[in-house]
Amino acid sequence: MVIKTATFVCSNTQVSALPPATMPEYAFIGRSNVGKSSLINMLVNQHGLAKTSQRPGKTQLINHFLINDSWYIVDLPGYGYAKVSKTSREKWEKFIRAYITKRESLQCVFVLIDSRLEPQQIDIEFCYWLGERQIPFSLLFTKADKQGMTTTQKNVAAFKKKLSEFFEEIPATFITSAEKGNGKDEVLKFIAEVNLD
Ligand code: GTP
Ligand code: MG
Repeated sequence: MVIKTATFVCSNTQVSALPPATMPEYAFIGRSNVGKSSLINMLVNQHGLAKTSQRPGKTQLINHFLINDSWYIVDLPGYGYAKVSKTSREKWEKFIRAYITKRESLQCVFVLIDSRLEPQQIDIEFCYWLGERQIPFSLLFTKADKQGMTTTQKNVAAFKKKLSEFFEEIPATFITSAEKGNGKDEVLKFIAEVNLD
């Protein structure tokens, strides 16, 4: 799929204020600083579209980006940032979980996992939570440029093994680098195929 246009539409904290659920959408979720906003920019070829930062906690709202006038990419705040207060964390939980469970046009949740790390409990638990609700998701392993492929493959395999304790079928998995462009064609092809269904 070729991305012809990608434009920012709106930022929200409330599910009730989101744009009408008339077009398919794909949400990017994962731990703070895992590279959600960077990956979105890489996929749509626009450096500054989604705001990124070296400091965790940059994205605070539900951000909608309209792609090719026909579907949305949604950039979400990250979870698991230790310095965030309990109140903010609870707020995140509430509005993200409400968004995921209520948004009718949500086709697939992309769960971003740091490819440098061994399986993290918080990511596994989030996948289990999606699985329990039968919410379609796929795994995007990020920052693959930061280490050799052997380490990446080892961490990906370990994560999938953990998931297999709960899931009969492991979701689609992609290895990506926002820095080098890895995974771009594969992820866009996946989205195009889901959009056709
Ligand atoms: P929050 O919005 O705070 O939850 O973070 P985020 O998940 O949106 O992460 P963001 O895209 O802001 O990236 C965090 C940091 O990681 C930035 O300094 C990025 O430049 C860096 N980064 C993201 N993706 C990659 C990648 O593929 N490779 C490398 N080397 N760095 C990356
Ligand atoms: Mg972000």
